[in-house]
Amino acid sequence: MSRPEFDEFAGRYDELLAGSMPEGLNEDAYFASYKIDLVASRHPRNTVHRILDYGCGEGRSLPYLRDRYPDAQLWGFDVSEQSISMASQRVPDARVSADWREITATHFDLIIAANVFHHIPLDAREAALSDCRDVLAPGGCLYVFEHNPYNPVTRHVFENCPFDVHAEMLTMRQTTQLATNSGLHILHRAYTLFFPRPLKVLRPLERFMGRLPLGAQYYVQMGR
Ligand SMILES: C[S@@+](CC[C@H](N)C(=O)[O-])C[C@H]1O[C@@H](n2cnc3c(N)ncnc32)[C@H](O)[C@@H]1O
Repeated sequence: MSRPEFDEFAGRYDELLAGSMPEGLNEDAYFASYKIDLVASRHPRNTVHRILDYGCGEGRSLPYLRDRYPDAQLWGFDVSEQSISMASQRVPDARVSADWREITATHFDLIIAANVFHHIPLDAREAALSDCRDVLAPGGCLYVFEHNPYNPVTRHVFENCPFDVHAEMLTMRQTTQLATNSGLHILHRAYTLFFPRPLKVLRPLERFMGRLPLGAQYYVQMGR
């Protein structure tokens, strides 16, 4: 098997991402926590016992998940062993692995895949989503966050980011279709990440804006 692409970028992920963002929007940690805030606002902490960060990379989301769900078991999976090793340093109590077989014995109330599927080859996406479906607990939810190809700032970042060279963005419609093909039900979907940090007081407005294809990203919430 070829070496996972992100092994090459491990340790430089934050720096490379920051370098591809337009001046003034260099707020990667803010956007990572934005997504976890969104999920946490929809799933109270007492309903979530096991969480999987699928494609966790270097574990950027893990500290926010730990913060919002202090009592939950936190797991991370990524195909890049180098990234996994960094993630385990970031949040030592998270159970992280690059071996999917170590994940399959557990069922998760919440699975989050943030900016992962555009890195998976087209012909492997359905199988990856089916893997996620198989480890969802009854009543569990899977959130797929993806870049919004219609947002010009997102396109700029995507086109300038060295680790997006082989990636292919998915529209919300394509992600929805993928979910349906993988035997998942769509529970909700919306555009998100409308407001950079200087405008963060406006974030409560986002709940009325989910259909506007202007957010930097979107999410599709799925269940079995
Ligand atoms: C852009 S990074 C996102 C990392 C993390 N989710 C975040 O938000 O910071 C994409 C990650 O997806 C991982 N990845 C690519 N193909 C994968 C697959 N088939 N299964 C799981 N992870 C995969 C890469 O190794 C990389 O760490």
